[in-house]
Formats: sequence, C-alpha cells, structure tokens
Amino acid sequence: MLWPKLIGFAVLSLLLAQLQFIPSDAAVSGCSDNFTQVAGKCLFAANYWYNWYQAERHCRSLGAGLFNLQNQTQLQQISDWLNATLPYTIEFWTSGNKLGQYGANYYWQNTGEQAHYLPWANGQPLAASGDCVTLFANYTYYEGILGYNLVVRNCTHPSPHVCEKQTQITDNRICLKTGSYENVQVLL
Ligand SMILES: *[C@@H]1O[C@H](CO)[C@@H](O)[C@H](O)[C@H]1NC(C)=O
Ligand SMILES: *[C@@H]1O[C@H](CO)[C@@H](O)[C@H](O)[C@H]1NC(C)=O
Ligand SMILES: *[C@@H]1O[C@H](CO)[C@@H](O)[C@H](O)[C@H]1NC(C)=O
Ligand SMILES: *[C@@H]1O[C@H](CO)[C@@H](O)[C@H](O)[C@H]1NC(C)=O
Ligand SMILES: *[C@@H]1O[C@H](CO)[C@@H](O)[C@H](O)[C@H]1NC(C)=O
Repeated sequence: MLWPKLIGFAVLSLLLAQLQFIPSDAAVSGCSDNFTQVAGKCLFAANYWYNWYQAERHCRSLGAGLFNLQNQTQLQQISDWLNATLPYTIEFWTSGNKLGQYGANYYWQNTGEQAHYLPWANGQPLAASGDCVTLFANYTYYEGILGYNLVVRNCTHPSPHVCEKQTQITDNRICLKTGSYENVQVLL
C-alpha cells in the first residue's frame, strides 16, 4: 500500500530535480498576428478608407483599439515606422476625439484617458472641423514627408488607421502532466 506511493514520490522528486536543469528561455515581449512592435506598443497600420467609427470597430475586431501618442519619443518612433512601411499614406486615424464633449479637451478612446500630449499641426486644433483626430503627414512634393502631426477631422471622413495592442510578454515553462510533461508558452 505504502510502497507504490513512496516509489511514485521518489520518481516525482527525481523528475523535479532533473527539470531544474532544463534551461528555460528568458521572457520575451512580442506582438501577435500581424502587429509590429513599435515604440513599446504592438501596432497594425490598416490602409482601408474607413471613417473613425468603422476604423475603431475594425481595431476592436482584432482585439485592439485605435492608437494613441504619449510623448515625443513615441511620435518619433511611430513616424519613422509609418514613413518606412506606408510612405505614400499621409493620414491615419488615432483614437483621439472629443465626441460628446463640450469643452476643449481631447480623449484617447483606447485608454479612456484625457490626451495630454497633443502634437498639433500648425493652425490646429480646428474644433469646427469635427470631433476626431488623425495623424497627418506634413508633406511637400519636393521634400517628401517632413513629419507627422495631429489634425482635427470630421469623424465621418474616410482615412486609413493604426490599431494598437499591448505587447505580450511570454515565457517558456515546463508543465507537468499525468504521465508526461510538455513545454508550453504562457502569457504573463
Ligand atoms: C495577416 O495578414 C495576412 C495577409 O494580409 C492575412 O492573410 C492573415 O489573415 C492575417 N492574419 C491575421 C491573424 O489577421
Ligand atoms: C513615453 O511613453 C511611454 C509609455 O507611457 C513610456 O514608457 C516612455 O518612458 C516615455 N518616454 C519618455 C521619453 O517620456
Ligand atoms: C510643415 O513643416 C513646415 C516646416 O517645418 C512648417 O513650416 C509648416 O508649418 C508645417 N505645416 C503644418 C501644417 O504643420
Ligand atoms: C461631418 O460630415 C457630415 C457628413 O458630411 C456632416 O453632416 C456634418 O455636419 C459634419 N460635421 C462637422 C462638425 O463638420
Ligand atoms: C521619410 O522617408 C524618406 C525616404 O526614406 C526620407 O527622405 C524622409 O526624410 C523621411 N521623413 C521623415 C520625417 O523621417
């Protein structure tokens, strides 16, 4: 009665002792599906002519939201990425908007937070144009794209967009199963 248990325990202990020596890869952060890691976020640029509401729905269908900007570093990194991946697309919906707001504040729809970093293009924000915000390329025919800044648009205006998801941190762990073990990737 006792022996099988003892032997089982001994085998399990040996197994666990062995497992300690199986090297595990360090945790890595990355992006799933067709998202690319940019500025510490997972981004996906969609070159469809959707209005803000459709763009927002499209991002939701991918488990994401429209993107936001938190600081100058992010603007720079996202600008470099857009300029390199979609150099002929000059406008992208962000999650920025002031829908339903009477004041002058803008909000990031994907976080629900008030937007504090708003790198407006010259002459913006033109609140009378609409309630939604795009990232717009400052473009000249001879010099190409000089930079990207925020512009207020009518939310029904069609434009490409960028979806944002958080990066996923994964780690390889050894998991014990009855009679065997397998190597699985876990989401942290
Ligand atoms: C990724 O993009 C490819 C090519 O556009 C598409 O066929 C595929 O369905 C996309 N994968 C996901 C998970 O959206
Ligand atoms: C920019 O914002 C990101 C996300 O909040 C943060 O991780 C990063 O440290 C910020 N960079 C600077 C220079 O403020
Ligand atoms: C585009 O960049 C040029 C040069 O920096 C600047 O003079 C102009 O005001 C910018 N245009 C907008 C709309 O921000
Ligand atoms: C946005 O566009 C729609 C349809 O063209 C129009 O009815 C509406 O008045 C516009 N809104 C603003 C704030 O310009
Ligand atoms: C965008 O890319 C073009 C071509 O590589 C380059 O000439 C231009 O300086 C870039 N613009 C920005 C703002 O990085």
